[in-house]
Amino acid sequence: MYKIDKILIGTHNKGKFKEISDLLPKTIKKISPSELNMESPEESGKSFLQNSEIKADFFCKKSHLTTLSDDSGLEIDCLAGKPGIFSSRWAKEFGSFNNAMFEILKKINKANQNKKQKNTKAKFVCSLTIQWPNGKKISEIGEIEGNISPPKGNNGFGYDPIFIPQGYLKTFAEMNYKEKLLIDHRYIAYKKLEKKIKIYFQ
Ligand code: IMP
Repeated sequence: MYKIDKILIGTHNKGKFKEISDLLPKTIKKISPSELNMESPEESGKSFLQNSEIKADFFCKKSHLTTLSDDSGLEIDCLAGKPGIFSSRWAKEFGSFNNAMFEILKKINKANQNKKQKNTKAKFVCSLTIQWPNGKKISEIGEIEGNISPPKGNNGFGYDPIFIPQGYLKTFAEMNYKEKLLIDHRYIAYKKLEKKIKIYFQ
């Protein structure tokens, strides 16, 4: 297997693209699907793993480049794991991430009505898949547990303002970029994957 000198990061989400780029070695050239005028595939999988595999396969076959793709989202305990793989679709359906976060808080309140102790448990999940042009692929999953809070902070992206990771007193959006980068679900998945792929780094 040849060394990786450039990699397509298979996502159109700017927040994810930046995080994944910053986790990879500086020596690897990072390419985005928009640079190659590529659309995204339909996320028809039933799990984060299936969707990250679908994206890696799609972008890799189209670009003939080694591709690293992510599928991630927020699973909320009292909402039976929703929005989960539908995290970005909820933001589209409700019109924006702000609206989706407001709807989530409403749904959590409803689910906890008449409960003595409010259950606000949630986790962010990320599946990362790397695929080589010869079809070889490796995937790893990362998860970070925490709680949903009213929106706080202006950093980050997506659902960052309503998620407080376990062991912290602030939301992802209140953390500085580096602080979140080095603890989140993508970092956890990346570190597992890195063990298996670092032999291909220069
Ligand atoms: P997808 O993987 O492209 O389907 O999108 C996953 C959705 O979950 C995106 O809309 C993200 O905004 C959201 N999401 C995934 N990871 C994070 C994160 O680290 N912070 C905030 N939102 C996230």
